[in-house]
Amino acid sequence: MDSLKIWITGASGMLGQDLSRLAKEAHHTCLLTDLDVDITDASAVSAFLAANKPDRLVNCAAYTAVDKAETETELNYHVNAMGPKTLGECCAKAGVPMLHISTDYVMSGCPPEPLLPESSYDPMNAYGQAKAQGEQFLHATGAKFWVVRTAWLYGIHGKNFVKTMLRLMAEKDSLNVVNDQFGNPTWTEDLARAILKILETNDHFGYYHFSGDGIASWHEFASEIQRQGLALGLLTKKVPVNGVTSDEFPTPAKRPAWSALSKDKIKAVFGVAVPPWQDSLHTYLQLEKKSLA
Ligand SMILES: NC(=O)c1ccc[n+]([C@@H]2O[C@H](COP(=O)([O-])OP(=O)(O)OC[C@H]3O[C@@H](n4cnc5c(N)ncnc54)[C@H](OP(=O)(O)O)[C@@H]3O)[C@@H](O)[C@H]2O)c1
Repeated sequence: MDSLKIWITGASGMLGQDLSRLAKEAHHTCLLTDLDVDITDASAVSAFLAANKPDRLVNCAAYTAVDKAETETELNYHVNAMGPKTLGECCAKAGVPMLHISTDYVMSGCPPEPLLPESSYDPMNAYGQAKAQGEQFLHATGAKFWVVRTAWLYGIHGKNFVKTMLRLMAEKDSLNVVNDQFGNPTWTEDLARAILKILETNDHFGYYHFSGDGIASWHEFASEIQRQGLALGLLTKKVPVNGVTSDEFPTPAKRPAWSALSKDKIKAVFGVAVPPWQDSLHTYLQLEKKSLA
């Protein structure tokens, strides 16, 4: 595989940092930007493309505060809807293929079938609505693009559910966790590897889903974090983790009860590995342990 020049926006974020590191390890040249090149500023984006001539762009930049998005509606729309539009328009002009990261929250479904990349949009919250608009705007730009929807991300470089659970399990005597929302826990490194595999093909543009293999509720995810955390010595005491309904644990943004993603298409087209979510959690927790040592 020839080395690529890859522009990664949102490179200081949770996914952006892991993707940058793995891309460099794979001997690609990385152009890393975050708020210094605002993805909604067409002249800044065009100037960057003209000056640096990347082979591909990966958009990891986003507004990711799902609950705050209910009230910070303008910023959410600006970044999550107008951002991909602006990037797509500039990439179309420059002839640069773009991979855009999106979310399971653009949809909501019913068990037992995982959502397909072709399933219809059905966002339940403002964040999901803006991300769905971003996908549609990007589609209309005429750019060559891949949209990769992912879910329930955790990684070493960001605030996330795994870190929050470990902290609360150490601090509290018991915990309530929602048991009626089901999805796929996903490690940023697994997603980053899948992204690199796609970029290296420069083909098969379109919509894809990537997440960890296997379906869990947030309560099952939390229980597994506790089980593995205790086994690895990241936790020293076991506390009761109680399952509660979404009604008993209200949040500003509604979330789908079922947003499990089907990875059949991404596996068949690109041959990417989709590890079981429990295995990836184990590798991730080992890294967390090393980082604390
Ligand atoms: N986290 C999840 O559970 C999850 C689930 C499904 C899908 N996703 C998607 O996965 C992608 C990566 O998520 P993540 O968790 O890695 O996000 P993240 O950690 O919040 O990183 C996003 C980065 O984009 C930057 N950014 C915000 N507005 C920008 C702008 N206008 N121009 C340039 N950069 C800007 C942010 O800077 P500031 O932090 O300073 O604002 C941040 O560094 C996103 O598309 C997200 O929607 C995430």
